[in-house]
Amino acid sequence: MLPSERPQWSALLRHFRQLESRHLREYFAEDPHRGQRFSAEAAGWYLDYSKQRITDETLRLLLELAHACGVRERSAALFRGDKVNVTEQRAALHIALRAPRGDHIDERIVVDGRNVVPDVHAELDHMAAFSSLVRAGEWKGASGKRVRNVVNIGIGGSDLGPVMAYEALRYYSDRDMTFRFVSNIDGTDFVEAVRDLAADETLFVICSKTFTTSETLANARAARQWCLQALGDRAAVSKHFVAVSTNAEEVVKFGIDADNMFGFWDWVGGRYSMDSAVGLSTMIAIGAENFRAMLAGFHAMDEHFRTAPPDRNLPWLHALMAIWNNNFLGASTSAVLPYEQYLKRFPAYLQQLVMESNGKRVTVDGAAIDYHTAPVLWGEPGTNGQHSFYQLLHQGTRFVACDFIGFCRSLSLLGDHHDLLMANLFAQSEALAFGKSSAEVAEEGVPDELVAHRTFEGNQPSNTMLSESLTPHSLGALVALYEHSVFVQGAIWNIDSFDQWGVELGKALAKRTAAELAGGSEPELTHDSSTNALIRRYRAQRAR
Ligand code: F6P
Repeated sequence: MLPSERPQWSALLRHFRQLESRHLREYFAEDPHRGQRFSAEAAGWYLDYSKQRITDETLRLLLELAHACGVRERSAALFRGDKVNVTEQRAALHIALRAPRGDHIDERIVVDGRNVVPDVHAELDHMAAFSSLVRAGEWKGASGKRVRNVVNIGIGGSDLGPVMAYEALRYYSDRDMTFRFVSNIDGTDFVEAVRDLAADETLFVICSKTFTTSETLANARAARQWCLQALGDRAAVSKHFVAVSTNAEEVVKFGIDADNMFGFWDWVGGRYSMDSAVGLSTMIAIGAENFRAMLAGFHAMDEHFRTAPPDRNLPWLHALMAIWNNNFLGASTSAVLPYEQYLKRFPAYLQQLVMESNGKRVTVDGAAIDYHTAPVLWGEPGTNGQHSFYQLLHQGTRFVACDFIGFCRSLSLLGDHHDLLMANLFAQSEALAFGKSSAEVAEEGVPDELVAHRTFEGNQPSNTMLSESLTPHSLGALVALYEHSVFVQGAIWNIDSFDQWGVELGKALAKRTAAELAGGSEPELTHDSSTNALIRRYRAQRAR
């Protein structure tokens, strides 16, 4: 059944019409405790959602909708290891990747009759042993020199998580080592990444769940060629490659020793894999202990999500605010604004998590839907964004739902920078919520003809997420918060948040087109007239 056919959806629509014209200024004036009341805390994160355009009634109705849509049951199925990815008939058990090494019956997570928790820990131990060797300088390259450069080659979930986590946790990383991430099939990505690296000190981590992704394999072949040129023979090259994959057969076919492969499982989706062996580069950068602290952060949020009542539950609340903004208030985009430079790749990471998971237009049963699903997600760290696109947030015609993310303590002590940074975060959410009325502007003596230009409507909703400091633990908890929020939203929309069929058509067409670009003789083109003309023009100009 479509959620939009449920009486709870209609009730929310009626409720929306009643409070459509109400302003956040009024809500805060009516209730001096609103700021504390609409907040919740867990796993080291404080979520303030009081600047959302909601009342107690809104929250009650949203919870009713979520219950009617079976969010609780679906979440139980997720944790049980049911095949919640229905179109691919797979479990989505990323929560098992951070389950503690427990032997108790209630700590078992069973897939097809097998407790997967020991498998997870065996692989973590494998990663830890390897990472320690590399970090200690004991993993030697072909010339006998220590490996000090790590280049992760992967794309999508095999890149965005690792690069985001490396940047986020750079403070904790081994500063004597260099980490690079190559994803794009654009040759520039590889060429620039290795330009200043010595091959005999470089380790390539070829990261691909399927080990069939064309971009990754092309870059892996380029890396092998680059190594061969510098190091001479194939045997030498083998010391410079490891693989992370679920596909041992293809890894071996590529020429990487099965002993140098780190595995994971088909119940880990690419965009949910940064805490699996896909995080090998992260572990080499920050060490096994910090990596485990990150997993503990994920797990703390998992447990909170699993056990806390929905109205005190961060992922639930975050998801309900997203549904309210997206489906009732009409927000078309969602901005993630971390006031933390180390989180500069966090919006890019979330783009895949949110849009690949929930960018769907049919229900789990294949029925067409008549409501919006995932918003377009974008973002930049503050305060940089303030000097670029915030103008639109404050005075544009679009309605954008914002998430502000900040930390009470900085990792980079520098004068009063951190107070200034956080002052800006607090100021922005306040300005967006309350604005500045034309009366206030006029009172300041602004000339009549400029009053409209200098008025801020306000009433722009936002969440603020605060944690004490950016640590592996707080990062893990934050990512898990978003993972579960995405899940709750998908459950309400009744879609499969774990497949990604939408990426397939472009892949197939690119394969066919690549063959047409490759040949020397003019191919017979049977695309539409636009694509045919573009291909001809490309071939002609390339030849010149
Ligand atoms: O094309 C999309 C996708 O399948 C993502 O879902 C995935 O994260 C990415 O490609 C990379 O896939 P792989 O890890 O199998 O190379």
